[in-house]
Amino acid sequence: MTVTVLGISGSPHRHGNTETLLDSFLEGARAAGATVEKVVLKDLDYAPCRGCNACHKTGECIVKDDAIALFDKILAADCIAVASPIYTMGITAELKGLIDRGQYLWARKFILKTLFFPDEQIKRHKGLFISTAGQNWDHVFDGAFPAITAIFNGTGFEYYDNIIANNMDEFKGIKNHPTALKDAFEKGQKVVGVIETLKTG
Ligand SMILES: Cc1cc2nc3c(=O)[nH]c(=O)nc-3n(C[C@H](O)[C@H](O)[C@H](O)COP(=O)(O)O)c2cc1C
Repeated sequence: MTVTVLGISGSPHRHGNTETLLDSFLEGARAAGATVEKVVLKDLDYAPCRGCNACHKTGECIVKDDAIALFDKILAADCIAVASPIYTMGITAELKGLIDRGQYLWARKFILKTLFFPDEQIKRHKGLFISTAGQNWDHVFDGAFPAITAIFNGTGFEYYDNIIANNMDEFKGIKNHPTALKDAFEKGQKVVGVIETLKTG
């Protein structure tokens, strides 16, 4: 049973520190036999949430753009790796904009009660957060975690792990980090094995 892994790159900087870390994770997942896809948010066309609350009545978003197809893809994946550098103590505008657009799923869950993720399903679906930051500060990722938790909760994924590397300014890039790329590759391999066992067992 093939495991599908979707990487979502929220950095506007192509092939920078964060996308490179995400790529390592995805290579590990591919090496373990997963079907892997990467979506680059900056190449998609989607608007921010309008806050019109139409979804509270219909469970659908009235804005028909690339965000809808991406949420369909997320809902169909076994594993999602959501990647964003730290921008001003949080996630990038690209990623936050996408997460807000998932409000129609929130409406289905909590207002219309037409969407429910059973515990067993959540356990089989793993979400990872991948991030890099310039500063050498242990808490530099703290501002990002709540929104990441929200997208995993909203789409039925267990918040499985973080792959995070700070101090990029001093390292002068992720390629000079002593362990991060190897760790990401190994985590990619490992999570595929874990999901495989859960799917077949
Ligand atoms: C607009 C902007 C804001 C940033 N804000 C922070 C910050 O608050 N804290 C931090 O540690 N690094 C910050 N950085 C540095 C990036 O997080 C860091 O260089 C990261 O590795 C960039 O990843 P990328 O190559 O994928 O863009 C910021 C960078 C930019 C461009």
